[in-house]
Amino acid sequence: MKLKSRHLLGLDGVSKEELTLILDTAASFREILDRPIKKVPPLQGKTVVNLFFESSTRTRISFELAERRLSADVVNFASSGSSVSKGETLKDTARNIEAMKIDMVVIRHSAPGSAHFLTRVLDANIINAGDGWHEHPTQGLLDMYTLREKFGTLEGLRVCIVGDITHSRVARSNIFGLITMGAHVSICGPTTLIPRDMEHLGVKVYHRLEDVIPEVDAFNVLRIQLERQASGLFPSLREYHRFFGLTKEKVAAARKPITIMHPGPINRDVELSADLADGEHSVILQQVTNGVAIRMAVLYLLGTTN
Ligand code: CP
Repeated sequence: MKLKSRHLLGLDGVSKEELTLILDTAASFREILDRPIKKVPPLQGKTVVNLFFESSTRTRISFELAERRLSADVVNFASSGSSVSKGETLKDTARNIEAMKIDMVVIRHSAPGSAHFLTRVLDANIINAGDGWHEHPTQGLLDMYTLREKFGTLEGLRVCIVGDITHSRVARSNIFGLITMGAHVSICGPTTLIPRDMEHLGVKVYHRLEDVIPEVDAFNVLRIQLERQASGLFPSLREYHRFFGLTKEKVAAARKPITIMHPGPINRDVELSADLADGEHSVILQQVTNGVAIRMAVLYLLGTTN
């Protein structure tokens, strides 16, 4: 079996069989990451460019490691210090880089649809590493992988995504992927940070943490984007923490321990208390490790079979 598309732009429309293929392929690469020699040859002779027009720590390093572990040649591009500052367009930048004979492009950009746009102007395989508020598919996949690793299955698992759903590409990719895999997905946050009609995606909507805490196996806590406060979407970080920040005291109301996830970077003691982030039920660093395996799987499946 192979993926239907030559590109990974989002998890919307990706079938259960394809998601399972990616997760199963990642499981075999995850095992390689624990070996003393972590390098395998499948992408030998391929060149991958990481085009990052936005800041990133986890995703950029994780993609680069995954590419090197698969023996690809790797080129990193950051918009700061490039000819973008002289006014060069995304299309010109990408076409000039492709003229240097590259095979795959990983792109992070603030514009929703930027990865999709590249599929129309380049021949390379395109992987979306986060495009504005739209999708962050490899984050969704690594979150699903981490949950499957912990619980054995995603079928019937109760996962709540907490925070700023409106501006979150992580939430969107998680919702599409988890629902396709048979999980029960809920979202929780202030009404100003949850789009209307989310129920039509198949999620349950909550506006009080106390109501959802007894109902979940795992929380995926989103970073509160600090610039949103300036736009008046919530009154203060203190108030956000009081009502929507996850703390040990609040989750103690659950009958059994709740798994804690966060895509990073964390605003400690705003959306998530430091003791929960570092606590025994947190899988936040496992998410980061699994991210390398997921990116290896996606690069491998697109680079060798598509
Ligand atoms: N989770 C995530 O995308 O983190 P970075 O912004 O550091 O890549």
